[in-house]
Amino acid sequence: MTTLSLRGIECRYGEVRALEPLDLTIPSGELFSLLGPSGCGKTTLLRLIAGFVQPSAGQLMFDDENVTDQPPHARNIGMVFQDYALFPDRSVFDNVAFGLRARHVEKHAIRIKVEAMLARMGLSGMADRRPAALSGGQRQRVAMARALVIEPRILLLDEPLSALDAKLRLELRQVIREVQKEFGITTLFVTHDQDEALAISDRIALLTRGRMEQVGTPQEIYDHPASVFSADFLGGANLLRVAQPLLVNPRRARYTLAGQQFESALGSAGIPNEGWRLCVRPQAWVPRAGTCTEHGVLRGTVLSREFFGGHASYLIDLYTGTPVKAIAPREHGEAMYEPGTEIELPLPPCAVLLPGEQACA
Ligand SMILES: Nc1ncnc2c1ncn2[C@@H]1O[C@H](COP(=O)(O)OP(=O)(O)OP(=O)(O)O)[C@@H](O)[C@H]1O
Ligand SMILES: [Mg+2]
Repeated sequence: MTTLSLRGIECRYGEVRALEPLDLTIPSGELFSLLGPSGCGKTTLLRLIAGFVQPSAGQLMFDDENVTDQPPHARNIGMVFQDYALFPDRSVFDNVAFGLRARHVEKHAIRIKVEAMLARMGLSGMADRRPAALSGGQRQRVAMARALVIEPRILLLDEPLSALDAKLRLELRQVIREVQKEFGITTLFVTHDQDEALAISDRIALLTRGRMEQVGTPQEIYDHPASVFSADFLGGANLLRVAQPLLVNPRRARYTLAGQQFESALGSAGIPNEGWRLCVRPQAWVPRAGTCTEHGVLRGTVLSREFFGGHASYLIDLYTGTPVKAIAPREHGEAMYEPGTEIELPLPPCAVLLPGEQACA
């Protein structure tokens, strides 16, 4: 049960600034995910917490204890990597027992702890096998058992599911979530997979170029992205370029969108500039048949559709060059819009104006 605090932590590799100064507190027992593009500093942050990398500035606290200068072995951290990092020439039992032996735990206690952990991870009966005789999912369970058996203060998981196929990923992410809650262990989980992060995290940090772009619960970030990067990276979004913005009153702006005049409420980011984006989640855009010229409704033509049983996903041409996506729930037996159908897209109330210059329609 450890609260992890980063205070002004910064990391440089020579000229490369891998992490900008950052402040973050992860309360005891939280599952906190780090999500971001390759090279944004996720692994660096984990290595820093584990003690394999020294910060260029700042302090690292485990509860009230300053551990910034402690060597890795003194920090009592459990780590799991994408490539398992098991000892190939040792049995499953010896792999899991490794950390306990290094801590000079008494032999009988080691047997009890390792066997209990193997049973918890669904590995009973496999204690004598070598890693080569296990499936990928089983190897990752061994890696989890090895990390947890030492009862670490913090658990660090660096893309632990990336090497597994889709079905196993779903299964193991559930195991990680269950075990993490059962042990109440403060956990940092690095992933490339936004669905994974949305599904199992208490909170998520979106990282880009060594900077935390946004921190929040999955729902907060999905519903209230703070920037174009956040909207685009988590959950997928239609991002339409805002042109000729004009303030109507202190709370509303008028602008041109896909060649049409619009008005909407200002987001937390404030008064829009030329080039900002209006963000609409595909699930919030419900297409309807028609060609009206009503204010606040975009017109378009269905380019293609995909059927998913409970919903249909449409690509819609707004005559701007880049199609937008709308996902419509479907009642049983209801007809769907065919390619070529002219449709209307009423602007939903949750559409939000965001600063940033990334992808657009
Ligand atoms: N030992 C090192 N020496 C110099 N630069 C490094 C070193 N390790 C990492 N970097 C640089 O620091 C930045 C962050 O790297 P890091 O490995 O933390 O990224 P990441 O988010 O984990 O990426 P990925 O998703 O590809 O694993 C990158 O620009 C990387 O090239
Ligand atoms: Mg990495």
